[in-house]
Amino acid sequence: MRTVVLENANEAVRALKAGELVALPTETVYGLAGLGLEPEVLAKIFAAKDRPTFDPLILHIARPGQISQLASEVPHDARRLVDNFWPGPLTLVLPKKPHVPDLATAGLGTVAVRCPRHPLMRQVIEKVGSPLAAPSANLFGRLSPTSAEHVVEQLEGRIPYVLDGGPCEVGVESTIVGFLPDGVYLLRPGGLPTELIERMIGPLKRPTSSGTASEGGQSAPGQLPQHYAPVTPIVVIDGWHQLLPGDGVLTLKDVPEGHGGAVIQLSAKGNLKEAASRFFEALHELDRAGVLRIAAVRFPEQGLGLALNDRLLRAAATHKK
Ligand code: TXA
Ligand code: MG
Repeated sequence: MRTVVLENANEAVRALKAGELVALPTETVYGLAGLGLEPEVLAKIFAAKDRPTFDPLILHIARPGQISQLASEVPHDARRLVDNFWPGPLTLVLPKKPHVPDLATAGLGTVAVRCPRHPLMRQVIEKVGSPLAAPSANLFGRLSPTSAEHVVEQLEGRIPYVLDGGPCEVGVESTIVGFLPDGVYLLRPGGLPTELIERMIGPLKRPTSSGTASEGGQSAPGQLPQHYAPVTPIVVIDGWHQLLPGDGVLTLKDVPEGHGGAVIQLSAKGNLKEAASRFFEALHELDRAGVLRIAAVRFPEQGLGLALNDRLLRAAATHKK
């Protein structure tokens, strides 16, 4: 099967309605979309990505009000997040309605819901007329795609279509907040800065390595320590003394002097938003540059820097195995 690059949203709508998979642009990363309430379609998504079925999917809706089609309960603080940050790079995990398939939620009592901001994505969901499941359109554990070309690189031959919407604006996956029986958790730092959420609803709990206390103590599904890896080994460094000759360097702002290897500076002004929008593209580029090692300078632990450090540390952990 060749993967066809579509320019027209209506062709994507037609394929999705027929139960086929289409990779779609969102403001965060490209998602591999399919009908979210059809178990056979969900099974195709897991197969195309080589993704284990214990890792639940996010269901995407066109309008914030559609949340009640999927969630059985929307707590007051969740409602405030919806009112302030949707559509946008925020996913909420809430108690699920019974009709949401187990395959979407990995058998959990909760469902992850997101209302994306990307106009093409919203238009497609609206026209399909049903929520779309869409994990990032990469192979399981590999770099997330922020362009249609990235999708084709990894999924060529595995999916029939990708809708080209140009590069993703935010560049890092959505922030996931879980409203669980024992509290409100930051399940994944992401494209909506954590500080903005905490300013509105107070401090979020962080899952421990053994997971959240709810769901029978089961670890937060999908939050595997290894994830988002380039093929090239990656290390996170805190200063130039840790650099080896020939390393490919990923840096926010400061550039090493006289370094022989490839260097990618994400933002000359040190702007984290600009850095996030270029982050995965830069890792793809260093991966292609044929360096032996990628040395990534740790980002400041604030705003989008939290999400970027999270992705770097997961990528580094993959190669420590
Ligand atoms: O920005 C994004 O969120 C992108 C775009 C395409 O929307 N999607 C995305 O999906 O990043 P994915 O599948 O790569 O990551 C979804 C993660 C899962 O790995 C899991 O950790 C979490 O969402 N998740 C989903 N359902 C959950 C649930 N019921 N409880 C806890 N975590 C859940
Ligand atoms: Mg992913």
